[in-house]
Amino acid sequence: MNREAATFDAVAEASRHREQLARLIGEDGVAVIPAALEQPRNRDVHHPFRQDSDFLYLTGFPEPEAVAVIAPGRPDGEFVLFCRPRDPKREQWDGRRAGPDGAIAGYGADQAHPLDNLDEELPKLLLGRRRVVFPLGRDEAWDRRLLEWLRRARGIARNCPTLPTAVELPQRSIHELRLIKSPAELEAMRRAAGVTVTAHRRAMQAVHPGMHEYELEAEILSIFHRHGGEAAYPTIVAGGDNACILHYVENRRRLRAGDLVLIDAGCELEGYAADITRTLPISGTFTGEQRAVYDLVLAAQLAAIDTVTPGRSFDDFHAAATRTLVQGMIDLGWLSGEADALIEDKAHHAFYPHRTGHWLGLDVHDVGLPGEGGEWRALQAGMALTVEPGLYVPPGAEGVDERWHGIGVRIEDDVVVTVDGPKVLTAGAPKEPDELESWIAAAMGGGESPGD
Ligand code: GLY
Ligand code: MN
Ligand code: MN
Repeated sequence: MNREAATFDAVAEASRHREQLARLIGEDGVAVIPAALEQPRNRDVHHPFRQDSDFLYLTGFPEPEAVAVIAPGRPDGEFVLFCRPRDPKREQWDGRRAGPDGAIAGYGADQAHPLDNLDEELPKLLLGRRRVVFPLGRDEAWDRRLLEWLRRARGIARNCPTLPTAVELPQRSIHELRLIKSPAELEAMRRAAGVTVTAHRRAMQAVHPGMHEYELEAEILSIFHRHGGEAAYPTIVAGGDNACILHYVENRRRLRAGDLVLIDAGCELEGYAADITRTLPISGTFTGEQRAVYDLVLAAQLAAIDTVTPGRSFDDFHAAATRTLVQGMIDLGWLSGEADALIEDKAHHAFYPHRTGHWLGLDVHDVGLPGEGGEWRALQAGMALTVEPGLYVPPGAEGVDERWHGIGVRIEDDVVVTVDGPKVLTAGAPKEPDELESWIAAAMGGGESPGD
C-alpha cells in the first residue's frame, strides 16, 4: 500500500490561523464560523462529507454541524467550539465523535459546549463586540440562527454597552489569510500536486484507442485513493469533441484513434487541492492540426506562467495568455484583424471563453478577492493559482476550416508566487508534445515509459 504519510498538522496550523485572524479582527470583532452540514443523498445515505474550508482552516476539526467562535482577547480563552456530544449509540452507527472534552484535548479549544447549548451560550459571546464575521448568505438556516443570536444578545445586554452593529462576510479577513499560504500549507499543496502528477502520468501510460473515458478516470482515481486522497472536483476525461464542453464530466464515451483526450483531474490531499489538465493524443501522435493548436496553447501557458511573479497583477497572466492565443489564432486563420482590436471585441471568446486561472488552496476555486475598486490586485509571494489556457473549436464552428473542428486543448498547471519567480508545483507531469508522444508510444509498445 503506497499511502502518503499524513504529515500535515491541521490542528497546529489552525491554531496559527486563529492567531492571525485574532490580530486582524481585533477585540472589537468576533468570528462565528459554522462547520458544513451533512448533505442527504437519499433516505439515510449522505453525500461524502467535506468540511467547510473556512471552518477547517480555523479549527482542523473534521465533524459536521459544529460552530467555531474566535473571540480575540476573551479572558476565558479566544477559541470556543460547539460540537456534537458523545453518544455511544449514534457513534456505533455513524462514527466516532470528539465531544466537547475531545474538542479541548485534541483540537485546542479553550472552551467547548455540546450543540444543544448553542442558542444559550452563543449570544453571550457576542456581547462587547461591534462586528461579527460570519458567512452570511451561505446557508439560510444558519443566517436565521445568527439573527436569533443577535436578538437574544440584545435581550441579555443590560449591563453591556457594546453590541454588534455589523455583520461582515469572511472575504476581507479569513479569505485574505487563506490567500497567502504558509510553508506547511504549501508543503501540503506540493504533496497533493505530486499525487496528481503521478495520476496524470498513469493516464499517459494507460491511454489507448477503444477504452472508455471512465476507464481512464478509474486509473486516475485509483492513484488518488491509493495515496489517501480523493478527487478535488469531478474528473473530466473528454475524448475528441467532448473537450469542447468545458465541464464535461459524463466520461461515458469510447476514446477514438486519432482523437485527443483532455484530462482535467486533481487530487485533494489533507484538505488541499491540486488541479492539472493535460491533453493527450490517444493514438500516441498528434496530427498536424492538433499539434498546431497544442503548440499554441503551450506557448500561451508558458508566456502566462512567466508573469506569475510578485508585483504583477492577477490579470497579467490572463492578458499574456490571451495575447499569445489571439496572435496565434490570427496566424492560423481563425481570426482576422489586429490583435488589440480583436481582444477589445472579445473575438477570441468563440474559442477561448474562460479566464486563464483561479486561486488554488483548500478549495479548487479558492477564495480571495481578485481585486478592488475596479483594479486587479498585485500578486504576492505565497499566493497559489492555476494557469490554464485552452482553445476549443466546437463541431460546426463558423468561420474556421473544418479540419480544425472538434479539437479542444487545455494545459493547466499549479503555480506558487515566490520572490524567486513562479514555482510550478505540477512540473512533473509532461506537457512538451514530443515528450507526451514518447510517453504514450513507450506504454503502447509495452516498453518502459521515459522517466519511470
Ligand atoms: N478543474 C476545474 C478548473 O480547472 O478550473
Ligand atoms: Mn483550474
Ligand atoms: Mn482543472
